[in-house]
Amino acid sequence: MTPSTDISPAGNGSQDAHLAFARRMDRIDGLGHYRRQFVGIDPATAAAGATGAAGHTPNPVAYLDGNSLGRPLRASVARITEFLTHDWGTRLIRGWDEAWMDLPLKIGDDIGRAALGAGPGQVFVGDSTTVLLYKLARAAVDYLRVDTEPMRTEIVLDTDNFPTDRYLLEGVAAERGMTLRWIHSDPASGVTVEQVRQAVGPQTALVLLSHVAYRSGFLADMRAITTVVHAAGGLVLWDLSHSVGSVVVELDLCDVDLAVGCSYKYLNGGPGAPAFAYVRRDLQDVLTQPIQGWMGTKDVFTMGPGYVPADGIRRFMSGTPPIVGMLAMQDSIAMIEEAGIDSLRAKSVALTEFALTLVDAWLAPMGVTVSSPREPTHRGGHLTVNHPAMLQVTQILWEHDVIPDFRTPDALRIGLSPLSTSFVETFEGVAAIRDVLRGVLLGQSGLAGGNGTGLGSGLGAGAAGALGAPGVGL
Ligand SMILES: Cc1ncc(COP(=O)(O)O)c(C=O)c1O
Repeated sequence: MTPSTDISPAGNGSQDAHLAFARRMDRIDGLGHYRRQFVGIDPATAAAGATGAAGHTPNPVAYLDGNSLGRPLRASVARITEFLTHDWGTRLIRGWDEAWMDLPLKIGDDIGRAALGAGPGQVFVGDSTTVLLYKLARAAVDYLRVDTEPMRTEIVLDTDNFPTDRYLLEGVAAERGMTLRWIHSDPASGVTVEQVRQAVGPQTALVLLSHVAYRSGFLADMRAITTVVHAAGGLVLWDLSHSVGSVVVELDLCDVDLAVGCSYKYLNGGPGAPAFAYVRRDLQDVLTQPIQGWMGTKDVFTMGPGYVPADGIRRFMSGTPPIVGMLAMQDSIAMIEEAGIDSLRAKSVALTEFALTLVDAWLAPMGVTVSSPREPTHRGGHLTVNHPAMLQVTQILWEHDVIPDFRTPDALRIGLSPLSTSFVETFEGVAAIRDVLRGVLLGQSGLAGGNGTGLGSGLGAGAAGALGAPGVGL
């Protein structure tokens, strides 16, 4: 604990004002009615933003991790049941002809229209994010470095990008005898246009960056960075995993070459649901992807002697599409389209602004720092706060059904999904973080107690011994 650390309980006055604000925001929230359509949120209380009681309730008190794994929709329960009992159960193999063969392209178009600013025929769903990033990165460097401009020997990436992005590019560079050029990004400020300008040149084949940084939530300037890469003659591949469904993305308008993103965060596709890939229309027929499977061929059932790629986006598919994994995301994509990505973004900003206000009021005095951008135009849908005790704090919170996530070494991420998170839930979540952190700092075997929310005292009552409890599988 630093000498300036203040662990005294927040005054009830400020607490009451924040709670009143949260309740008012939930009442006037134009997207609030979507919340009750998620599994695990009691329809009777969802409108007011209220959540369950503290302790081991069937549903979390506050779910602040939709940026890792989104909640399922009730409509998906019905869709999956219908799929099992009817589509698969009775149509059996006929399902492929009747719907499944084109599903990866149909859903791709739906995601493109609802959330990516992408016209039809440029997006498909299939494979994991990692595999799709690999396929598109290899296709891009083979086109420039190997086929057309051999002096383009470099791939540009940043040190704080998601591990899989960095690891797979190490592999691509090794396979193709290329060099990685690293941008040393500040986790708090992300990759800037100027850094990219400094890194690219006639030697650049590909730049791979995350649009919203997984650690800090920094929102990169997609349009300006894409323009800078193009001016140097390279191609750009954006990782949209933390963007899709939470921030406005305009792939066509920004003239993006390639993009990949996952569907289990803000698209609520479920654990391990397949990712999507975007390839700009004019690049589709000049790029060759490295995993040449039968599902990407011109005529799948000819089963000819050699690989002849399909025209258009289908050529980036490889094997049998994971249809079961594509079920739940369809309900979420429809909801995002109905709600409108601009409205979603507006609520997302309001939620992160509110969380930031609470963090400043309650957590900063205890030595917590904020590593996300404070300016909302530079921030995605989550807020990251840092303190050496955050691993312990997260473990205790998970045991009490308050669920943020933790990233080493000291970051707690507060993920706020605009369609499923309420302002009161955000209030309760940050209040719980405050109470648990205070308990940890006091070195108690219980928590510091609540301040009239009913949550802190409930947590405190159930938390005896929790400080010594083992981790929760983070
Ligand atoms: C930014 C980013 N890129 C890539 C991945 C990896 O995705 P997958 O494990 O589905 O391949 C993740 C996973 O969380 C991610 O957050």
